[in-house]
Amino acid sequence: MELAKRRGFIWPSFEIYGGVGGFYDFGPLGTILKNKIIQKWREFYVIGEGFFEIDSPSVMPEEVLKASGHVDHFVDAMVECKKCGTAFRTADLAREQTGKDIEGMSKEEMEQFIGKNRVRCPDCGGELGKIFDFNAMFRTTIGPGSKRVAYLRPETAQGIFIDFKRLQRYARGKLPFGVVQIGKGYRNEISPRQGVIRLREFTMAEAEVFFDPEDPHHPKFSNCADEKIRLWRAEDEVEGREKLTEVTAEQAVKKKFVCNELMAYYLVLTKKFLCELGIPENAIRFREQTPGQRAHYSSETWDAEVDTARFGWVEVTGLAYRTDYDLSRHAEFSKEDLTIFRADKKRKVLCHVIEPSYGIDRPLYCMLEHAYTTDGKRKYLRLKKELAPIEVGVFPHLNRDGMPEKALEVHRSLKSKGFMSEYDDAGSIGRRYARADEIGIPYCVTIDHQTLKDGTATIRDRDTAAQVRVALAELPSILRSLICGEVQLGEVGEPVKK
Ligand code: ATP
Ligand code: GLY
Repeated sequence: MELAKRRGFIWPSFEIYGGVGGFYDFGPLGTILKNKIIQKWREFYVIGEGFFEIDSPSVMPEEVLKASGHVDHFVDAMVECKKCGTAFRTADLAREQTGKDIEGMSKEEMEQFIGKNRVRCPDCGGELGKIFDFNAMFRTTIGPGSKRVAYLRPETAQGIFIDFKRLQRYARGKLPFGVVQIGKGYRNEISPRQGVIRLREFTMAEAEVFFDPEDPHHPKFSNCADEKIRLWRAEDEVEGREKLTEVTAEQAVKKKFVCNELMAYYLVLTKKFLCELGIPENAIRFREQTPGQRAHYSSETWDAEVDTARFGWVEVTGLAYRTDYDLSRHAEFSKEDLTIFRADKKRKVLCHVIEPSYGIDRPLYCMLEHAYTTDGKRKYLRLKKELAPIEVGVFPHLNRDGMPEKALEVHRSLKSKGFMSEYDDAGSIGRRYARADEIGIPYCVTIDHQTLKDGTATIRDRDTAAQVRVALAELPSILRSLICGEVQLGEVGEPVKK
């Protein structure tokens, strides 16, 4: 986090006014990285899966969120200290003081639990009062006056459900079909103390996969049937066992560990996506939510979790079987018929939904943490090369004899060919390499005396610090192949002896 703040990845919002918990800005490097993650996500879901992308408003009128169940159910049971007046999330207090999970209990059951187990205010030891609901949505009004109540969306998914009629027409009745939306989600989190892990405004990338409940197959399932996934099943968690069950996607369906083939397929796709971000496979697991932990719309939820040094296991994606909950509620509240006619099967269906819901901020943190490497005196960000915010650094070896001019020419030419290139001539060459390593620049090109004589330059690899000498004329194509991993440094030029 120190590096992330100092080098311009992430920093606290509103800092000169003291900051506000749960809000972070992405600096120049963080913004590029975030956009690259989103681009990678589009490669998976929009290009790979062929899903349609839409973009709908963040402000939603109350009736939409009443129908979706968020006005009534997107709530946390809170409790206030009778003595000092501080409010706490009841289930968190109970867990901290008794080690028991009371998530999903009714308010009355929680009150009884607190009384029986003598749960007290952690700040002053005072007695706790009645339990009350706190809705985590930010409320506002549309236009002047207080009549038209609205909320900032807590998920992007609702924008997709309410466009369902138009979307299924666009999909020309084909099932399954998927729709995605990438954008901000807003949640008035109770105690956001974990940096970008718990934000009050964050970026979501969500896919809603609509399918016929009698036909929950994915056309490409055979491609992933043998892929392994590590599951922490709810029945084990409920019994207090942190036991992981490793199965193939096919076994997960056959043994009924997951509700259907589509769910298994998207668990595998999520694992592949996280691996593409550079997160090691052994740091990924899928935790099934217990009935008490699940959102109101879900009959089965799997959280993709990533192991981190700082925060332990962090949920980065939630995969929910939303059944027909959303479409049936919107049909009921809007009085629109949201069933579709399956010409091939000669019947009407109300689609069911599998939803992979990704946050972007949490994976970005996990990527940075997993990329951070110290190796003797060197420290560097071992980011996936194609995802590194700056792809190439261009340096003059010395600030004289025409080297800066030549280096600037190379830098400008790389930029004109679409590379994120950075020119640096400040301080010794060693310090420039160290600065580049620290922000994960995969390759640095150095212009030296020999460049001026024979038109060659050195390329240095961030991870090994090895260097080769190549002809400047071939630099763009070589860098492109290196960045996308088609070739290794040793294959593209003469090694430079240090
Ligand atoms: P948690 O249990 O940690 O509060 P959640 O179960 O509420 O998370 P989901 O509702 O499943 O999370 O949201 C989908 C994804 O959105 C999460 O996997 C996460 O990546 C992201 N997300 C949710 N809440 C936040 C938040 N407060 N800050 C940053 N990202 C978030
Ligand atoms: N759309 C999933 C969620 O908000 O939890």
